Amino acid sequence: IRAHLTVDPHFTVGPINRRLFGSFAEHLGRCIYDGIYEPSHPTADEDGFRSDVIDLVRELGVSTIRYPGGNFVSGYRWEDGVGPREDRPRRLDLAWHSTETNEIGLDEFATWLQKVDSELMYAVNLGTRGVLDALDVLEYANLGSGTHWADQRVANGRSQPYDIRMWCLGNEMDGPWQLGHSSAEAYAQLAATTAAAMRQVDPDLELVVCGSSSADMPTFGEWERIVLEKTYDCVDFISCHAYYEPKGDDYGSFLASAVNMDRFIDAVVATADSVKAVLRSDKTINISFDEWNVWYQSRYHEVDRITDVHSWPVAPRLLEDSYSVLDAVVFGNLLISLIRHADRVTAASLAQLVNVIAPIMTEPGGPAWKQTTFFPFSLTSQLARGTALELRLDTPTYSTQEYGDVSLVDAVATHDEGGTTIFAVNRSLSEEVTLEIDTRALGVVDRTEAVSLFDDDIHAANTLDDPKRVCPRVNDSAQIAAGAVTITLPPVSWTALTLS
Ligand code: AHR
Repeated sequence: IRAHLTVDPHFTVGPINRRLFGSFAEHLGRCIYDGIYEPSHPTADEDGFRSDVIDLVRELGVSTIRYPGGNFVSGYRWEDGVGPREDRPRRLDLAWHSTETNEIGLDEFATWLQKVDSELMYAVNLGTRGVLDALDVLEYANLGSGTHWADQRVANGRSQPYDIRMWCLGNEMDGPWQLGHSSAEAYAQLAATTAAAMRQVDPDLELVVCGSSSADMPTFGEWERIVLEKTYDCVDFISCHAYYEPKGDDYGSFLASAVNMDRFIDAVVATADSVKAVLRSDKTINISFDEWNVWYQSRYHEVDRITDVHSWPVAPRLLEDSYSVLDAVVFGNLLISLIRHADRVTAASLAQLVNVIAPIMTEPGGPAWKQTTFFPFSLTSQLARGTALELRLDTPTYSTQEYGDVSLVDAVATHDEGGTTIFAVNRSLSEEVTLEIDTRALGVVDRTEAVSLFDDDIHAANTLDDPKRVCPRVNDSAQIAAGAVTITLPPVSWTALTLS
């Protein structure tokens, strides 16, 4: 099977914003406690943070990290997590039926972020709280000194404000599972008032209003329209969230999950631009795709979920999905979709980071290891530089139950003065594909470097017992000819090919 690609640096989509490679750390399961923070671990540093995890997060190459939730944030009192640790209350976390000890809060998390060299993106609670609490945490985080909350931060040993730029106005307020879930009209009103108030403190904040928690929500589309009509002038981003998992053994549809993500993004862009037209606005609202991943959500509902009224564990094992090669190929394809929309998706957060639907796993007192999904993320973050390119891709198609006929190969390219990188997936379950790339517009190409992620066993995964079972391999099938490069893409594979 052959597919054909033409790459031309003149046909650009838009600049690659580093914020596309963000992630998300929620107070959920063992993400924060027994993940990022484990003071008794042999690698723990002076602040109780695991150094092996810090090293892996740095290697992963994450830019912005969204915190502290997620569903958790809708019941969170941020001030519980600051000040002397011994005074911090233990609270019910209704979202995950757990106990929140509040050992980690904004100050500790900001310290950890410095160690991993990432930017903080903070979500305020608009589920059970409102304007005043958002203003208080903004003052605590961003103002110098001389007023109550700023002085509290200084008293807590942080003289320098954090200068957080990106703020989420609540989380998934369209979801009936969300504490304080409301109608689009009610949420839009609260988000608009909160945004306006926060801008009275700092007009340059970058504010993210909640879009739909999935394109399958019954309110999808109308939610975006109503929310944006009310908030358009005072927000910068609308959020998208999407999680994918196979239905039974329908791997063909699962491998085409990025088709769904493409359509989701296109629909939200169309809705935002339609509101722009109706409002006669000059401003463009972009997307913060601030939760995306493969997530075996059915497993959470059937196995993990805690419901016993007397059971409120601290840091239980929740959402600890183990990712296969198949999952990683779908995941790599989702990154391709995000890059393809780099002009309008200018921020994104892989949900999540450690232990909870995560590229990094840890064992208490034991090792930390990379899941299969670690590799497409770290390689894309490292290699996607400069500008996203529009490609001409001629590929065979295959038929899926969920999305009809879809491309067998999907690809995107990025380009800067150092070279061009093509990210490609072969969605075929059985056939390899020869990808022929027309490189004439790139000038002389005399060097190729390629790595692929694939395996004879598409269900192979890295586990505590076998943490290095899967890793990317050098793909040495690339061949350079006059004005062309060919490369073989194995079945169910993700590839990064750099041309220079
Ligand atoms: O990432 C896990 C959960 O998924 C988040 O808490 C929530 O926002 C979403 O439903």
